[in-house]
Amino acid sequence: MLRTRVRLGLSSGLILSALFAALFTVIGGAELFVPEFAPTYGVPTPLVLRVPYGARIVRSGSGELFDVTFQHHRIILPRGSVLQPGVEQHRAAIKYDSLRRPPSLARLGSAFVLYFFGCFILSNYFSRFGHPRLRLLRSQLGVFVLMGLALVLAKALLVLTVLPAFWIPVSAVALWAVVGFDRRTAFLLDVAVALIVSSLLRFDLLLLAVLTTRGMVASLLFLNRKQPRQMVLAGLASGVAAAVAYVAMTVLLAGQPGIVADLSLAFGSNIIACAGGGLVSGLLGLAMREPAELALGHVSRGRLLDLTDIEAPLLREMASKAPGSWEHSRAMANLAEAGAAVIGADSLLTRVGAYYHDLGKSVQPEYFTENNAPGEKSPHDDLPPEVSADAIMAHVVVGTRMLREAGIPEPVVEFVYTHHGTQLVKFFWNKYQKQERPEDEEPLDESHFRYPGMKPMSRETAILMLVDAIEAASRTIEKTDRAGFEEMIRHIVFDKLSAGQLDESGLTLADLKVLTGRMASTLENMYHGRVKYPSQRDKEKAQAREQEQAGGGREPKDEASEDTAEAPADAAEADAADGEPSAPEGEAADGEPPPASGEATIEARKTEEQPSEPGADAPRAAAAGGGTGPARTQKR
Ligand SMILES: [Fe+2]
Ligand SMILES: [Fe+2]
Repeated sequence: MLRTRVRLGLSSGLILSALFAALFTVIGGAELFVPEFAPTYGVPTPLVLRVPYGARIVRSGSGELFDVTFQHHRIILPRGSVLQPGVEQHRAAIKYDSLRRPPSLARLGSAFVLYFFGCFILSNYFSRFGHPRLRLLRSQLGVFVLMGLALVLAKALLVLTVLPAFWIPVSAVALWAVVGFDRRTAFLLDVAVALIVSSLLRFDLLLLAVLTTRGMVASLLFLNRKQPRQMVLAGLASGVAAAVAYVAMTVLLAGQPGIVADLSLAFGSNIIACAGGGLVSGLLGLAMREPAELALGHVSRGRLLDLTDIEAPLLREMASKAPGSWEHSRAMANLAEAGAAVIGADSLLTRVGAYYHDLGKSVQPEYFTENNAPGEKSPHDDLPPEVSADAIMAHVVVGTRMLREAGIPEPVVEFVYTHHGTQLVKFFWNKYQKQERPEDEEPLDESHFRYPGMKPMSRETAILMLVDAIEAASRTIEKTDRAGFEEMIRHIVFDKLSAGQLDESGLTLADLKVLTGRMASTLENMYHGRVKYPSQRDKEKAQAREQEQAGGGREPKDEASEDTAEAPADAAEADAADGEPSAPEGEAADGEPPPASGEATIEARKTEEQPSEPGADAPRAAAAGGGTGPARTQKR
């Protein structure tokens, strides 16, 4: 049975949230569990002491004639400071610390509850409305691990350095989310990380505002996800925006900006920290991009580029054992990559997925007629339809196992077990229904003829499912202009949509519309004609003369088309055998016997008049098929 990736359900979401909420609670108050870290008068402090930013009422004067002022303070005492009772700041620091030590159950419980709410809301949102890949347990685990690491980094900066808290470079998490998922995910994650980090300083409002602004601006300005170096520029720009936000917030809260006094503190300056924290976030994002992508379950571009090497052992094996399937995969790769690029999906991942999606066919290539020589007898001729269906569907399970055993990243393996989704192998199901069976035999139900995979869960895998059918049908279409291709593609898209195969993919109708146009123009360019060489034209004329003399009276065009009809018939047959709904052919759809040979297919098709069906004229159109881009030569 096919093992698929585990999705996050309600109970697993609750457990995950509880686990990480407990972890965040421990990290948040880590130093409070160690009595030796408690500050005392006359002894150098083992850790940096911080009193969070806040307003205090200050009384001056005596008796009834006192004055009250409302002042904002932030205290930072370096490690090793010898605390004196006579120093107001030292007294405030010791008082603040004593309020938190030892950590009471009520405080710990409250922190846990808040973290749990945050984690569960985030997890539930991601599962229900987030990026499709975030529905997987693996991806959400990666997200929470990164949040935990951001919290550890923030904690370390706060207790080990005297740098302002605005240096905490957690916007890097948002940048990684842009690369691994999308900007919407990055925004949400940025807010979540900002809240958790600011909770270390009693939800410091200024820190929360700065971190939120920085993460969101960085996500927005990181325009090209394929250019990781842009992270640095985006980080720097977000730092500038955060510095402006900091000054504005300070004026609102404290009444005055105090810019000059602040800037004179150099590394202790909050304004410089806001800007510098943004730059450090960008640098950290760039430097740790690959490990972060790995944590999020994303495959790095370097690894993907390695996988496109057609000299890789798995691809070489496929090219030698199943050459027809390999050429189909290569043709798909071009189409799928173009489609993914135009809607902003990961085009390189889609290309790699196309290369590997049918790898399972290399184990029993003879069951897929694109690997049989023209006229070669199909093994399905002698097999019951249920056995044929099993043999066809096996390529999904076998391919998945082969890739996992070879250590191929799971996002690439996902293409294998989703490219047919849970579709029906219509051809053999129809054949099974029409065949005669003994009365006492228990009939098989439709589920025996359904692929054992999963529906596509990302735009990339959904594009591959569509392109798998589009590439096959493009070899069988007669009308090779843009309108013809568009009609064929719309038919396939509607077929997948109505079968519910795209329900979980995240593809929108707008995406499908753009994809249809791009696919049609790509196919049109692939099939555009060339002017024939004089020798070819002479040969055609000679053939035409021969026909006339023989009394055939047929136009050279028809003759040429039928001469080449056998090869395409195989292509169409492969589609039918592979259970592609685009396998058009009336035979597949109507459950007529499969095109066991080229001749039989041609004869069958000659009797059909279904021009509106994509691929109804398969034989002639597919004559040009079989390469990475069928180079059809039109008659001029
Ligand atoms: Fe397949
Ligand atoms: Fe395929």
